[in-house]
Formats: sequence, C-alpha cells, structure tokens
Amino acid sequence: MALKIGRGASAPPFLVMDVIAAANTRQAALPPGAPHVIRMEVGQPGTGAPAGAVAAAQAALRSGHPLGYTEAFGLRSLRQRIAAHIKDWYGLDVAIERIAVTVGASGGFPLAFLAAFDPGDRVAMAAPFYPPYVNILTALGIEPVILEAGPDTRFQPSVAMLQRLDPRPDGLIVASPCNPAGTMLHPEELAAVARWCHANGVRLISDEIYHGLNYESDVATAAAFSDSAVVVNSFSKYFSMTGWRIGWLVLPEDLVRPVECLAQNLFISAPHISQVAAEAAFDCHAELQENVARYRRSRDHLLRALPAAGFANLSPAEGAFYLFADIADRSNDSVAFCARMLAEVGVAATPGVDFDRTRGNRFLRFSYCGPEADMIEAAERLKAWR
Ligand SMILES: Cc1ncc(COP(=O)(O)O)c(C=O)c1O
Repeated sequence: MALKIGRGASAPPFLVMDVIAAANTRQAALPPGAPHVIRMEVGQPGTGAPAGAVAAAQAALRSGHPLGYTEAFGLRSLRQRIAAHIKDWYGLDVAIERIAVTVGASGGFPLAFLAAFDPGDRVAMAAPFYPPYVNILTALGIEPVILEAGPDTRFQPSVAMLQRLDPRPDGLIVASPCNPAGTMLHPEELAAVARWCHANGVRLISDEIYHGLNYESDVATAAAFSDSAVVVNSFSKYFSMTGWRIGWLVLPEDLVRPVECLAQNLFISAPHISQVAAEAAFDCHAELQENVARYRRSRDHLLRALPAAGFANLSPAEGAFYLFADIADRSNDSVAFCARMLAEVGVAATPGVDFDRTRGNRFLRFSYCGPEADMIEAAERLKAWR
C-alpha cells in the first residue's frame, strides 16, 4: 500500500545550493595554476566569527562547564545584550521577556509563522523575495501572496500595493535591506507599512537580518512602529557568524508565550556554545565595521565597473551585500546565462528564478561579500567577456 507523503516533502530546492555545487565542481576540475572560480553566488561572509566571539567560545570549552540546554528563549545574559544592542542601535527599550534567541533567523521563521498563522491563512510579500519564506509557509499550509515589485518601489512593498489587496492578507513579510535586491524600506516607508499592518489586523514579520550592512540611509526596526510586529534578526550577516546558527526574535506581547512553548518543543534551545560566542560578539564592533567597510568598497567598485561590463541595469544597492542585475538585454534565461558565465569566465552568480518565479528569468544576483581582490577581478573578467 502506498504510504502518504506530507506537503512539506514537496518543498522546492533552494536553487543557489545547486549553483554553489556547480561552482565547487568547476573549481575542483581546474588544472593547477588556472584562474580560480570567483564566488559571487554565496550569501555568507567569507570572514569567520569576530576574534572576541571565538575567544569566548574557546574559554567556555576550556572551562569544563557542561554545555547543555539553556532556557528555550536563551541565556538571560545574551538576551540582556540583545536588548542593550536594540537600545544602542535604534534607541528603543525592549523588555528582555520579548526577546527569544533562535537557531538563526531560519529557526525563527517556523516559530513566528506557527504562532501567528493557521493553515489556509494568506501571507503577502514582495517579489523578488528570499525563497525560504515561500517554501516554509507552503510547507506549513499557509498561502503566500506575491506582490510583484519593481524598480519604482526599489523592489519593496508599499502601502499602496497593500491597499489594493482584496481580501486583506493575514500577514506580511518585509526584509530591509533585502535579499536579493539589496534595497531598503527607508525608515518612514517601514513606519508607514508597519502602521498600516497594525491598523488593518495584518501581522507584520520584519526580517532585519541585514541591519548593520546599510550604506546609504539609516535602518529602523519595525518594533519601533508597531506593537504587533515580529522582528527576525540573526548573527549570520553583520556579526559574521553564519555557521554558529544563532539569531533572535523580538516578539509582540501576545506571541511571547506561544513562541516559547513552540520553541521548547521544536528546538529546546539554540546551541549553548553559540550563545556564549554571540554575547561576546557585541564587543567586537571595531572588527565588524572593517567587514562593513570592505563590503562598501566592493559595492562602490562594482557599481562603477559592472555597467562597463554589460550589467547597466542594477538595483540601487542600499544594503546587504547583493546587486540584483536586470539582464533582459542579454538573456531571457538567467539559469543558462549564469551557467555560461561560470563555464566561460569562472564567475559564479545566482539566477533570479530562485527569488522571483515569474520574472527571475531575466535577473541575476551578484553577492559581493567575498574577498575584495576577487570582486575587482570579477569585474575585469566580466568586462573582457562582454
Ligand atoms: C533575508 C534572509 N533572511 C534569513 C536568512 C537566514 O539566515 P540565518 O543564517 O540566520 O538562518 C537569510 C540567509 O541568507 C536571508 O538572506
């Protein structure tokens, strides 16, 4: 008799992983001395955790104290540091009871979605979007509602777009700076969206994982504008701690206990060692700002050099470490285009189809968090390839 397979089993792959595998294969097959593959497909800092975080983890290991489960919402001392960070960056007081330490932002999504939505609910987001939003919602039986956004709103949702939605969605996910476009909702725009959501009974989920990597304008947190919003954040990007799998949520009062119960059941706690390291990362801003300065230099260089290499139509690049290029004048098949670019000049980038299922065929995403010299060389190779 055929066994049942659940809807979660039909979650599509995250295509960038296939591009990473293709780039690895090509690199492995190169003869000695051949120019290396330049990795502009990966969305993670090439740097490791800051030295202070590593030292704190080493000290914890050497101390012999057992590393065990922590409270589901994390170490109190870490939550206090997160609250202090929120005060420092946004001038906002948040009670530590509302802060939940999670297994990366990724671990925060199912907690937030399960606590806030039911199967059959509808959750809106602008396209292009970070693919796991749609894939996790779908696996949970929640219906994604896609708002096609373009350069006129810097690929971000607007209140006007939300007002046109009939029926109103149950939730909205925003990301600023966002992946893949690298664009932002400026503070007044985020405020307007957050207030509209609150007034209209739409639960806002604000992905703030790229805060700290903003080059043109200040960032604001949705928690400053709405008492009902859920904020998702992480140590993976600005804090350069991707592999430590640690992040946090700022929760509205009504979701604190539901998320705590879910977290106890789903994860028990985030890794203890990562919590210790993350706490120390808050003392490492000088080192982390050097990373930001490097991203900014790479971004500035690519914004100057890529147009001359045939990528003239770039997103505004306000934050994160991504450039979203409209390649309609060169190809209508971004998967084939990226494969050819990798094969012919050894530059790996991510086709837009991962991020936008209807228009992604004419976009690709360059990530510029790799070594600065690689970013300079990539632009040269692409110019010669044009
Ligand atoms: C917009 C966005 N949100 C969430 C994540 C997941 O981050 P984490 O490593 O904290 O799980 C990513 C990872 O690239 C991302 O780009």
